[in-house]
Amino acid sequence: MKVNSLEIQNFRNIENIKIEPCDSVNIIYGENAQGKTNLLESLWLFTGCRSFRGSKEKELIRFDNSFAPFDFAKLSMTFTDEKREHEAKLILSEKKKAILDGIEHNSSSVFFGEFLGIIFAPQHLSLVKGGPIERRKFINMALCQLRPKYSNVLTDFNKILEQRNALLKDVTYHSELIDTLEIWDERLASYSAIMMTQRLKYLDEIKPFLCDIYSGISSGKEEIDISYETPIHFSSTDVDNLTLEILEALKKTRREDMQNGSTSIGPHRDDILISLDGLPVKNFGSQGQQRSAALSLKLSEAAVIKKITGKQPVAFLDDVMSELDGSRQDYILNHIEGWQVFITCCDPSSILKSKTGKVFEIEGGKLCSST
Ligand SMILES: Nc1ncnc2c1ncn2[C@@H]1O[C@H](COP(=O)(O)OP(=O)(O)OP(=O)(O)O)[C@@H](O)[C@H]1O
Ligand SMILES: [Mg+2]
Repeated sequence: MKVNSLEIQNFRNIENIKIEPCDSVNIIYGENAQGKTNLLESLWLFTGCRSFRGSKEKELIRFDNSFAPFDFAKLSMTFTDEKREHEAKLILSEKKKAILDGIEHNSSSVFFGEFLGIIFAPQHLSLVKGGPIERRKFINMALCQLRPKYSNVLTDFNKILEQRNALLKDVTYHSELIDTLEIWDERLASYSAIMMTQRLKYLDEIKPFLCDIYSGISSGKEEIDISYETPIHFSSTDVDNLTLEILEALKKTRREDMQNGSTSIGPHRDDILISLDGLPVKNFGSQGQQRSAALSLKLSEAAVIKKITGKQPVAFLDDVMSELDGSRQDYILNHIEGWQVFITCCDPSSILKSKTGKVFEIEGGKLCSST
């Protein structure tokens, strides 16, 4: 999978930039706050996922010196997958448009599974160090790219959860609503079961790659493990069976849920446990071990994409090289040999030492040189 050309208009601090990246390593460099991450973010949006910075769409449209936003931001990209070249456009404005090969859609989810990428940025350390929400985001995002239907399930699940929570608050005062709650419980259980089976399957898929890559990064010093954490007891990963088991668990927590006005169990509360030699890396890992674990997880994500789709995702590395020691930098650069990569940094010299590729210098949201 390769990006052939990109044009950015009115996106963040970028008024207009056009680039033609090379097929291997593309280095985007410049001083702080010049627009390097913005450029990477513009490309990332073509994966169909939301901004990796968690920004709202409105914030992506360029504003002028008095903070008045322009009417729209427009991103145009051509990319080649394993078969042919595609043209993708994304227009952010009052009315969003995502255009793929000339066909217009109103949601960028049309890009899921079409343009594939992985992003590794400094904040991804929170994948290992942070709370469960970060890991749920990771697995949700990974599955949305891999299985576009998962994104619909996730959207529906969130709507059902919201409805159930609203009902839980009302049912305390209106006992006649209890039958309606039964209906929402059934819906919630069935969507929860689909999400959980997909997530469990994903962890099975990522695990061998994770073990292999972590072992490579840490020179085989420790063994990494990954597992799904849920308070729901389940005997198999068959969706129908799991639905019944979740329904049972929802019944048990109903009283507590009614008291709190929220649903205490389900995929919105589950977590992923990452451990080294049996100890949770979140609580016991050193800085270096946590960094290696996060990095391994990201590289394994790419390996799973390659295995399932046959397409090699584009790698986006935002400002992470400077945080890694020499041997880990070398590991990444060797590992991603043959992939198209976009790396942002303030000082390109260490990366350039070992690699050839294109270098783009960004200053004040403008491309000031490319070699
Ligand atoms: N909607 C917007 N309109 C105009 N400018 C924006 C908008 N959103 C963000 N910016 C500006 O973009 C600038 C550059 O951001 P970016 O994160 O790309 O910097 P960077 O080059 O990656 O810097 P660093 O090396 O510090 O990571 C910021 O100073 C920010 O104020
Ligand atoms: Mg940056």
